Amino acid sequence: MSRRKLIAANWKMNKTVAEATAFVPALRAAVARLAGIDLAIFPSFFCVRALADALAGTSVAVGAQDLHWEPNGAFTGEVSGAMLTDAGATMVIVGHSERRHVMGESDEIVARKLAAALRARLAPILCVGELLSERDAGNEKAVVERQLASAFQGVAEEMAARVVVAYEPVWAIGTGRTAQPDDAEAMHGAVRSWLSAHVGAEAVSMRILYGGSVNAGNAAGLIARENVDGFLVGGASLDPASFVAIAEAASG
Ligand code: 13P
Repeated sequence: MSRRKLIAANWKMNKTVAEATAFVPALRAAVARLAGIDLAIFPSFFCVRALADALAGTSVAVGAQDLHWEPNGAFTGEVSGAMLTDAGATMVIVGHSERRHVMGESDEIVARKLAAALRARLAPILCVGELLSERDAGNEKAVVERQLASAFQGVAEEMAARVVVAYEPVWAIGTGRTAQPDDAEAMHGAVRSWLSAHVGAEAVSMRILYGGSVNAGNAAGLIARENVDGFLVGGASLDPASFVAIAEAASG
């Protein structure tokens, strides 16, 4: 089964509107050249509208980094799925490790957000991944399977198939210490097996991204593995040349 590679930029809390839109010419040139892969950008909420407008007519998707699980209401500071689609987003990240471990989001909150994203017809990227202490204790697979089980609970198969999973080991995020291709493939294979058993036949077409210190130098080795279907890139996505170089490595 050949799955289209997806290379996604998570800009985290970086870039103003002017800085975000300055990225657009490089992206337009990249998509024109790189057939066969999908690109997506996840800027701050503020940049979604401007970026979606600037990339209209291209295949580059624009998404948000988070959403609230309710459609509206008294939730000061929060943003709903409907607000995101209204701003031009077609995707959203759910359960990023910084949300889980810095903002304290539980598995239950992540599950509510995944359901809300699907209800809003956004394509979610569900992030999973273990802490270094959990890997050192040999629990990485159990942790990731627990995160998957919680997030997918109650999600119908035809909806679940719209989810992209991103394996982001927490110890590899922003540390310069990336997972070795063998370690990434071992976990991606485990994620695919879990999806096959619990989501169903659609699992074979679901994309599983790797994230954590991906750069132009390590991308080719990771993407060569069978179950690595793309990347969720943080730091190295902030510079157009380095993001495009990763996309080039992924397009083979
Ligand atoms: P870095 O690529 O900066 O390690 O961040 C990865 C990440 O968190 C993407 O969501």
